[in-house]
Amino acid sequence: MTTAVPTASGSGNAATAKFRTNEVTADTSTDRAAAIYKDVLGKLSEVIYEHEVTYDEYRVLKQWLIALGEGGEWPLWLDVFLEHFIEDSNSRIFDGTKGSIEGPYYVPDAPNLGSDAALPMRDDEVGTAMIFQGQVRDLDGSPIENASVEIWHADSAGYYSQFDDGLGIPEWNLRGTFSTDADGHFKIHTMQPAPYQIPHDGPTGAFIRSYGGHPWRPAHLHLKVTAPGKRLITTQLYFQGGEHVDDDVAGAVKPELILDPQPGADGVNVVNYDFVLDPESEGRFVA
Ligand code: DHB
Ligand code: FE
Repeated sequence: MTTAVPTASGSGNAATAKFRTNEVTADTSTDRAAAIYKDVLGKLSEVIYEHEVTYDEYRVLKQWLIALGEGGEWPLWLDVFLEHFIEDSNSRIFDGTKGSIEGPYYVPDAPNLGSDAALPMRDDEVGTAMIFQGQVRDLDGSPIENASVEIWHADSAGYYSQFDDGLGIPEWNLRGTFSTDADGHFKIHTMQPAPYQIPHDGPTGAFIRSYGGHPWRPAHLHLKVTAPGKRLITTQLYFQGGEHVDDDVAGAVKPELILDPQPGADGVNVVNYDFVLDPESEGRFVA
């Protein structure tokens, strides 16, 4: 098995470029911005006084922030170290399936594959074959037909298609959009992913080394599940007993999001996971 991992500047710049194609706005009022700004600086100042942060440390921070931007690593760093707080804070009020972070590697409009199909993959795609299946329901337990289940995940070497640093992975490799059948079911044939190292040869890696940490995320599937009139859930699923489930660098594991695949026929692992969707609601919590 290859040990290659994406370079931070390669995948980071690709993630930055993709993100910049989005229109991003927020309807934050001046009052709210003032309140957040005051609290952020207030809490930062407490840290500075408590630890008596030195001028040398301040200059290292400035240099590091410049390098983070120049290396295109803002999406990497933010999605690893901050996004899980944003996600958790915004989703606490909902009753359906738990969410988790989106991360930097989502691409919309992955090919439509129906309710039962294999993800696009290479003939020699490495890994243990896995069937990931389940049902999408509403809060009352009724199955939802034509719910959309988008899935994307890394290959065995930790690369996501379209962020592969020029390796030539096919455009939609290990990405797809499924729609549930009349009973709300979907069945996805893929490869069980492996633990994943975030790119760590640049400033994000230097940050991790500076506090004696590691760059590993547990193996995970990324998902977006929705249906007309239902709240979109962005989440991730992990694997029982897998490495780094208990010490994810991105802090994005929740106990409700852990799969336990079992060996099935022909060496194919099989696992079931059902999604429950909240009704769509108005207000700032709509994803
Ligand atoms: C990052 C990568 C991921 O695959 C993920 O799920 C979250 C964050 C990152 O490199 O920032
Ligand atoms: Fe990921």
